Amino acid sequence: MKSILYPGSFDPVTHGHIDVIKRLRKAFDRVLVLVADSPRKKYLFTSAERVELLKSSLSSIDGVFVQASDDLTVRVAQKESISLIARSVRTTSDWEYEYAMADANKKLNPDIETLFIMADSKYAFISSSLVREIAAFDGNTSPFVPDNVEKALKKKYL
Ligand code: COA
Repeated sequence: MKSILYPGSFDPVTHGHIDVIKRLRKAFDRVLVLVADSPRKKYLFTSAERVELLKSSLSSIDGVFVQASDDLTVRVAQKESISLIARSVRTTSDWEYEYAMADANKKLNPDIETLFIMADSKYAFISSSLVREIAAFDGNTSPFVPDNVEKALKKKYL
């Protein structure tokens, strides 16, 4: 069984992430979506909330699993016997950050490779922080996120 780990903050999940997950699922039997935290970020949704939003957004796709992590991503990959990490690249501005993360992960565990997947051009300029900013000003987030996420954002900013 071919598996891949797709880690991210998903604060919140957007149409761009869902597109990446669907495309990964075409190539892999199992896609494990990992809700991880970066100490560099402050989150709007708790880890449990981000997991729930992902699960309800992805419920119609089999072979996709979601879990939270409070460990190093490479350690989770090893525990799950997964040797590939997927990261999505939208524009050239993502490169340096992604390259540094892939390099660090490689140094932490040389047996685990990072695979980059280009974001579809339709979603190249979506980011979770952009979505949160629109929601904070009571703007329409429906072009960027699924209905359940739109509702959750409205509730957060009530
Ligand atoms: N569609 C929409 N948005 C996309 C996207 C796509 N296809 N591809 C990237 N993004 C955006 C995200 O929305 C996010 O936007 P934001 O910064 O405005 O919130 C941004 O790209 C990057 O987010 P994400 O992919 O979620 O990565 P991250 O930097 O938030 O998370 C972790 C990094 C959590 C995966 C990483 O820190 C990690 O693995 N942490 C666990 C601890 C660990 O192992 N640390 C060592 C890592 S070297």
